[in-house]
Formats: sequence, C-alpha cells, structure tokens
Amino acid sequence: MAMVRRLVPEDGEALRMLRLEALRLHPEAFGSSHAEESARPVETFAEWTTRGYIAGGFVDGRLDAMAGLSVPGSAKQMHKGMLWGVYVRESRRGGGLAEAVMDAVLGHAGTQVEQVHLSVAATNVRAFRFYRRLGFEPYGVEPRALKVNGGYVDELLMVKVLDRRTGRPSPGGPQSSHAI
Ligand SMILES: CC(C)(COP(=O)(O)OP(=O)(O)OC[C@H]1O[C@@H](n2cnc3c(N)ncnc32)[C@H](O)[C@@H]1OP(=O)(O)O)[C@@H](O)C(=O)NCCC(=O)NCCS
Repeated sequence: MAMVRRLVPEDGEALRMLRLEALRLHPEAFGSSHAEESARPVETFAEWTTRGYIAGGFVDGRLDAMAGLSVPGSAKQMHKGMLWGVYVRESRRGGGLAEAVMDAVLGHAGTQVEQVHLSVAATNVRAFRFYRRLGFEPYGVEPRALKVNGGYVDELLMVKVLDRRTGRPSPGGPQSSHAI
C-alpha cells in the first residue's frame, strides 16, 4: 500500500539510502554526487528533513520516492521555491507514486511560495515530460550546468506559477501542459 507524508528526522537512514541510490544510478540527473554524499553521516540527512520540506512516498513501509522543496532566505527571493531531489525507485515508476509525492510538495509550496523552479538535464526526456504534465513550463537553458565524469550536462530551467490557495497554476501564469 502506498502512502505519502513529510519526512522527519527519524527517516534519516531511509532518506540516506534512497538518495545514495539516486546519485549512484543517475549521476547526470542531480547536482550533487554519490562520492560527496556517501561521506556524510546519517545526521546530515536527518537534518535536511527539518531545514526544508521533503515529501516521501512509502510502499509497504519502504521509502521508495522523494521530492524536496527549499526556499531561499533572502527577502527578495523568498517568493520562489526550489524543487530538488525528485526520485522514484525504478520498480515504482509509471505507477503514480511520483505524482503523489509531487502533489504533496506542491501543496506545501502553495502555502509558502508563489512559484516553484526546477532544473532538469536536457537529455532527461522522461523527467521533462513528467514535469510538463504537472504544469511546469521551460523558460531557459543553462549550458554546461553540470560536469559529470568529464562530460558536460546542459539543464533546462522550468517554473510553475502557483495559486497559493490551491497549489495549482494561477490564472495569469503558465497553464498545465494539457491546456497548451
Ligand atoms: C523523473 C521521475 C521522478 C518521474 O516519475 P515516473 O513515475 O517515471 O513518471 P511518469 O511515468 O508518471 O511520467 C513520465 C513521463 O515520461 C514518459 N516516459 C516513460 N518512459 C519514458 C522513456 N523511456 N523515455 C521518455 N519518456 C518516457 C511517460 O509516458 C510520461 O509521459 P506522459 O505524462 O506524457 O505520458 C522518475 O522517472 C525518476 O525518478 N527518474 C530518475 C531520476 C530523475 O531523473 N529525477 C529527476 C531529476 S530532475
């Protein structure tokens, strides 16, 4: 049975395992590296759950999906949320768990910020289509955003403007991909 909830410090070890799997299997999809994060103690991962919002998707009690939101501390930027760490174990993809976790993050974002930003590797067609379906719109490209094993990765920049009451696109903002 699937369940989505906010992660808490007690989830630190499960978060560490999921995050390290993501970084090991998809080095081009994330800004951090397996080498850097595997050196961090479990307390670091536990602390992440209190510093920002991380939604976890559990199936039969195991953490199988995650998505995080961080909000800048500076006054001129705190209307923007940054989505990070979106990951679903391969065996759970295509089954709606990713969307359930994103619903939780965007619902929370709707109470905190006016828009949510993300970056996605330009070659990551699956993730790009997923984000489009959820109403994110591309607005630019960062060339050579990451350098992974000597090769460069361009990233697409995407944004979703929220109606703060619903977490859905505001009437004046970009509409969902279905409406384009
Ligand atoms: C990105 C991710 C969270 C999406 O979750 P998911 O369960 O795979 O998403 P869904 O299956 O609901 O949607 C994926 C979309 O890609 C499509 N798709 C499926 N397999 C695909 C493939 N091999 N190539 C391209 N598109 C594909 C699906 O049809 C769907 O598109 P649609 O909504 O237009 O029909 C998940 O694939 C994942 O964890 N990937 C590895 C890590 C990653 O890339 N994270 C994102 C970092 S920015």
